[in-house]
Amino acid sequence: MTRGRFISFEGIDGAGKSTQHAWMVDYLRRQGHVVVATREPGGTALGEKLRTLLLSDAMHLETEALLMFAARREHVAQVIAPALARGEWVVCDRFVDASFAYQGGGRGLDWKKLEALAQWVLGDLQPDLTLLFDAPVEIAQRRLHAATANPDRFEQEQAAFFEKVRAAYLRIAAENPGRVRLIDATQTPDNINKLLENIIATI
Ligand code: TYD
Repeated sequence: MTRGRFISFEGIDGAGKSTQHAWMVDYLRRQGHVVVATREPGGTALGEKLRTLLLSDAMHLETEALLMFAARREHVAQVIAPALARGEWVVCDRFVDASFAYQGGGRGLDWKKLEALAQWVLGDLQPDLTLLFDAPVEIAQRRLHAATANPDRFEQEQAAFFEKVRAAYLRIAAENPGRVRLIDATQTPDNINKLLENIIATI
């Protein structure tokens, strides 16, 4: 049995990551892989209920972080770990880096608290590859506003919030050069697809 791979997609809202996630799932299936396409927060029945709360209800920033990790705990137990054990590919639209970038960078929650939660919930589990879609906040905001009629609680945040989220993502990329590939999300979708094909060929 070939070993499955775990790939996460990250980036600020409006960077175009969800479109590329859908493309990647389709591409890998065409390559003959068994692919589990999933997302966070969510990915399980309980996780999707938590997602609805997280995207709509105001809450303390630590509650927000804890619910993100509660959803993640369920997701890892029910979906991600079993799929990887079966040798399948898991392609996840956001994973733990989003908690560091949004709750840590964006909201200012103590990084050490997030590290403790990550250690508790994930242990040694990390994506084999994280694709970080990076674009200037102004461009991402413009795309977001053009594409989204009813913005959720995160999408309603101001540019200054996304600047902090973006900076945290770039820091994560700099600190994890072996895992995180930085993608210039201002390129055309076709160019990004070619780049992703090349990256996949190397993992
Ligand atoms: P997103 O992928 O943007 O969903 P959609 O493409 O449907 O809009 O994810 C929803 C939001 O959740 C996004 O704004 C970032 C936020 N989020 C966190 O703040 N922390 C996390 O740990 C995760 C996984 C997501």
